[in-house]
Amino acid sequence: MSFTIAIDGPAAAGKGTISKAVAAHFGLAHLDTGLLYRVVGARMLEGMDPVAAARDIRAEDLERDDLRSPGVAQAASKVAVIAQVREHLLDFQRSFARRSGGAVLDGRDIGTVICPEAQVKIFVTASPECRAARRCKELQDQGLAVEYDAVLEDVKARDARDSDRATAPLRPAEDAVLLDTSALDIDTAVARAVAIVTAARG
Ligand code: CDP
Repeated sequence: MSFTIAIDGPAAAGKGTISKAVAAHFGLAHLDTGLLYRVVGARMLEGMDPVAAARDIRAEDLERDDLRSPGVAQAASKVAVIAQVREHLLDFQRSFARRSGGAVLDGRDIGTVICPEAQVKIFVTASPECRAARRCKELQDQGLAVEYDAVLEDVKARDARDSDRATAPLRPAEDAVLLDTSALDIDTAVARAVAIVTAARG
């Protein structure tokens, strides 16, 4: 039987770092599903039809090195409201989740839509101000000239778009464990997530 861990939450809540660390701890494969939407967003910025971009997506597209920019993040959340885009990306995510060694998927709708049968579901959250501060530092560390206020606006705009959309809106699954990382450093947040998975595995 495959073992799937679903980790969802809003932008910059820490789910990427937590998911990577949890996958490494338990020896599972990891898919950052946000990258799929980022690829489609980047293609749209290049002039491609987003539905066609989602239909033709390939694993190697996730290696593009321009996917982390704020412009691509905004474009990703715009294409993510298109039901046909989400539909085309479904098979890719489900077949990854069912791989024999087990997998961790992080995103917005993993526990609710992509893998409602996941054995463990964690909803990672933090205040918008905390998330903006973290994302700001992350982008500045990458050499991008960004300002806190603009990053906070970006985080809030994406939160609203992700939560209000009709298809697969951002919300915790009923059986998800909530993990608020506002007051936690990353090592503590990872330790909490590992403890949640360990408890669920029995
Ligand atoms: O890293 P960050 O949390 O800022 O963003 P991301 O996880 O890379 O996702 C970028 C955008 O893709 C999000 O704002 C969502 O609109 C969309 N997304 C989604 O709709 N469903 C997912 N499973 C993952 C991402």
